[in-house]
Amino acid sequence: MKQLFFATGNQGKVKELMSLIAPYEIEILTMNDFPDFEAPEETGATFRENAYIKAKAAADYSGIPALADDSGITVDALNGAPGVYSARYSGENATSEANNQKLLDAMKYVPTGQRQAQFRASLALVFPDGRIFYSEGVVEGELLFEYRGSGGFGYDPLFYLESFGKTTAELTMEEKNKISHRGRAFQGMVAQMVEIGEL
Ligand code: IMP
Repeated sequence: MKQLFFATGNQGKVKELMSLIAPYEIEILTMNDFPDFEAPEETGATFRENAYIKAKAAADYSGIPALADDSGITVDALNGAPGVYSARYSGENATSEANNQKLLDAMKYVPTGQRQAQFRASLALVFPDGRIFYSEGVVEGELLFEYRGSGGFGYDPLFYLESFGKTTAELTMEEKNKISHRGRAFQGMVAQMVEIGEL
């Protein structure tokens, strides 16, 4: 059976990929299967570059096709910040609370109607023979002035989806996976893998 190393320490992401890939004959290996693999530093300027850096290192290490992702939030009024710095917006090892507070402060004087933001995810798939495939997913929303909802993680309580009338922290996991940036990037990658005969 074909194998794929999904280089993430996040079990939620593994579950999401597993559910999409379940109909296919492929075994997903994770960091648990390669406990000594150390993900390289995310030194890229874009989500796509960071996804590639991780996937390339994982393919080199494991000798099998490797998939990696990078994601974050971009805010129009902040010229795309926090972007690739989303996880460390308020400093290295920042908590979600500290990051959200910094974002609320930065947006304090930005009026309704100018608070557009996007969750973005990039996936890179690197084969040991050198082939590289990318997939991107975006979801458009607006930043609230205060927190709403207790589900999800990261910036979810501030990210409002007009079409649902809810923040992503108020969606069920199933609802969020269906429309999320990562869900869309996964769907795009699975479609490409089918197209190239790797699924
Ligand atoms: P990573 O791709 O797991 O490194 O995530 C980067 C950062 O982007 C996270 O720490 C969150 O702050 C933010 N982020 C990515 N995806 C989401 C999401 O679905 N909801 C809320 N925040 C997210």
